[in-house]
Amino acid sequence: MEDYVKIFDTTLRDGEQSPGATMTTPEKLEVARQLARLGVDIIEAGFPAASLGDWEAVHLIAREVGTPDGPVICGLARANRNDIERCWTAIKPAAKPRIHTFIATSDIHLQYKLRMSREQVKQIVREMVGYARSLCADVEFSPEDAGRSDPQFLYEVLAIAIEAGATTLNIPDTVGYLTPDEYGALIRGIREAVPGVERVTISTHCHDDLGLAVANSLAGVRNGARQVECTINGIGERAGNAALEEIVMALHTRQQFYHLRTGIDTTQIARTSRMVSAITGLPVQPNKAIVGANAFSHESGIHQDGMLKHHLTYEIMRPETIGKDSVLVLGKHSGRHAFRKHLEHLGYQLSDSELETAFQRFKDLADKKKVVDDRDIVALIDDQLHQPAPIWELEQVQVSCGNVAIPTATVRLRGPDGEVRTDSAQGTGPVDAVYKAINRVIGQPNVLTEFSIKAITEGIDAVGDVTIRIQEPEPANGNGHGNGGAREQPEARARTYTGHGVHTDIIVAAAMAYMGALNKLIAARQERLRRQAAHYTEANAPAVALDLFGNSAWGRDG
Ligand code: KIV
Ligand code: ZN
Repeated sequence: MEDYVKIFDTTLRDGEQSPGATMTTPEKLEVARQLARLGVDIIEAGFPAASLGDWEAVHLIAREVGTPDGPVICGLARANRNDIERCWTAIKPAAKPRIHTFIATSDIHLQYKLRMSREQVKQIVREMVGYARSLCADVEFSPEDAGRSDPQFLYEVLAIAIEAGATTLNIPDTVGYLTPDEYGALIRGIREAVPGVERVTISTHCHDDLGLAVANSLAGVRNGARQVECTINGIGERAGNAALEEIVMALHTRQQFYHLRTGIDTTQIARTSRMVSAITGLPVQPNKAIVGANAFSHESGIHQDGMLKHHLTYEIMRPETIGKDSVLVLGKHSGRHAFRKHLEHLGYQLSDSELETAFQRFKDLADKKKVVDDRDIVALIDDQLHQPAPIWELEQVQVSCGNVAIPTATVRLRGPDGEVRTDSAQGTGPVDAVYKAINRVIGQPNVLTEFSIKAITEGIDAVGDVTIRIQEPEPANGNGHGNGGAREQPEARARTYTGHGVHTDIIVAAAMAYMGALNKLIAARQERLRRQAAHYTEANAPAVALDLFGNSAWGRDG
């Protein structure tokens, strides 16, 4: 059998379905570019029929990242004509487009969600896979909830999909129910029982509800699967998907056991992980395999002693293999040239003006903090690169508070018209006072759903990193989504906007984070107004209705 395992990254589709992980179109493009650098074989760029915004993001990625020597660009579609058509128009500009269509096959889903008979499902698979294949030479089919489907029925459905033209069969353990032995046997059974299976690639797609997604995926490849669907940092629905970095590093580190290879440039792993975490605002737990902050730290005396004698004593992988930062200390006397060189070493290629801003922020920090290490620099640069183009800018924030004072904040903001506005407010604490003062100037209703603060490094002079999430307030009449039982899509949820702020003064970091999230919310509102205007003027308006809050009413089901 072929020893190459294709890596199918679904961070931008299944990953984006993680609660709170919604990304803007420019953020999705940035992640897609990094995934191409990482060397993934296929990028599942989104679900084009979910909303106009999703369609546009997939289309842009297909155009910009789907070059002839770049990855396959894939879009997801339920097994109905409208979804497949929308998917095809979105991915068409890619040099290597793929349509991924799915329908559930478990009795639980047939009975309660689809309300269809097995015969109806078989007919839909025949027609819709055939239709997808009439548009695109590369078609993937997924029997959703395959893990809980009757194997005999599953084999029949898969045989029909192959006959109708599917080139990849993806086998989802949608609810993360199976054990590695069971999932491996499922893949083996398919390889033994489905006519024509030798002509197609079998793919794994495992969810992590029991913490078994990576083990199940590896059991799948041991039994003949040659594509793995996974996400960066394992983000995804509920407990998430199989983590790309864990699959790739297991195959890499235990090559002599698996005898399999991937096309991943492992030195891009740490950078990709940081980017996805910074953009989605989903932190990586410190003890997370491969990319957690502690994954290469040695704390106990015995371990440190062993490491000093030989790294093989306690390390099965080298941090440089995944592009992890070597901890190098820069100080206020470090020059621009050393700073640029060091950023390149960390994997950042900055334009001259970006470098100038970064260098100024680094110098400011070095003035306040004795030693600036890689963790500070990465936090500063990620913060700078992931700030949206500001609509409103924070010029000044000043707070007075204390155990006998009423927390009071004054802010000075520069608006989109260039005008500078100042206002003050009192709050329950200093951050509350700052947010109220900002609200008085900007006046954009929103709901604060999360506020978290962490120190980047140790010590009293540590840089504070604040992450906040805000949401659109619920529309008075509810959001009116009936999706007929299909999985709820990102657009159908209350939209969440994430903001980051990095500063030695945590109140300033909190203000910066709030401004970042508010700028995203305002940009999204403006974009929705633009789309609504286009919706009413274009003769060929898309089959997606947007309500006042920009949510799509996508009630069609497959
Ligand atoms: O988990 C799942 O079943 C899916 C399918 C749409 C492939 O994500
Ligand atoms: Zn999934």
